[in-house]
Amino acid sequence: MGATLLRSGAGSRGLVRRALGQFATGVTVVTSSTEDGTPVGTTASAVSSLSLEPPLLLVCLERSSRTLASIREHEVLAVNVLAEGQEWLSANFARRGEAASWEDVSYRLGETGNPHLDGALAVLDCLLERCLAGGDHEIVVGRLVAVEHGDEDLGPLLHHRGSYVSLRAR
Ligand SMILES: Cc1cc2nc3c(=O)[nH]c(=O)nc-3n(C[C@H](O)[C@H](O)[C@H](O)COP(=O)(O)O)c2cc1C
Repeated sequence: MGATLLRSGAGSRGLVRRALGQFATGVTVVTSSTEDGTPVGTTASAVSSLSLEPPLLLVCLERSSRTLASIREHEVLAVNVLAEGQEWLSANFARRGEAASWEDVSYRLGETGNPHLDGALAVLDCLLERCLAGGDHEIVVGRLVAVEHGDEDLGPLLHHRGSYVSLRAR
C-alpha cells in the first residue's frame, strides 16, 4: 500500500474521491424551502452527529448548492435518512444543474416548515445554528428541534465506492 503525494489539480481530486469513496456512508436528503414556500432538497452523505447536549448535527454542502442558499435564508433544515429501495430519491435530489422534481415525491411539512419525506428511516428537523467555511463546501451546523422515526424493519440505503449498497445484499 504505497502513499501518493497530492498535488493541486484534477488528478488529485480523483484520488481523494477514490480514497474517501472507501468510507461507506448512509444517504440522506437535506430539505428546506425557498422564500415562496417551494420545497428544495439535495442528496447528502457528508452528514455527522456533532453533539448530544445540545443536540447538534453537521452537513457539508457545496457552496454552489441551491439548497444551501435556502437553508441560509430560512435558517432551517431537515435531514431525511433514506431507506433501502429509495435510490430513486437519492438520484432525484442529486441532479446537477437542475432543480429536483417534487412531482412524485410524497412528503408532509414539519413544524419548521421543512419537507419531511415519506418512507424515510428518520427525519431530523433542525434550526440553523451556524455555517462555517470548509474550502469549496460549507459546514452547516443544525440544532435538532424534532425527530421522527420511520419503519424500524427497513434497512438503510448505503453508498460505497460510488454505488448504492443494501445491508440485506451482504
Ligand atoms: C450519494 C450522494 C451523496 C452526495 N453527498 C453530497 C454531500 O454530502 N454534499 C454535497 O454538497 N453534495 C452531495 N452530493 C451531490 C448533490 O446532491 C448534488 O450536487 C445536487 O445536485 C445539489 O443540489 P442543489 O444545488 O439543488 O442543492 C451527493 C450526491 C450523491 C449521489
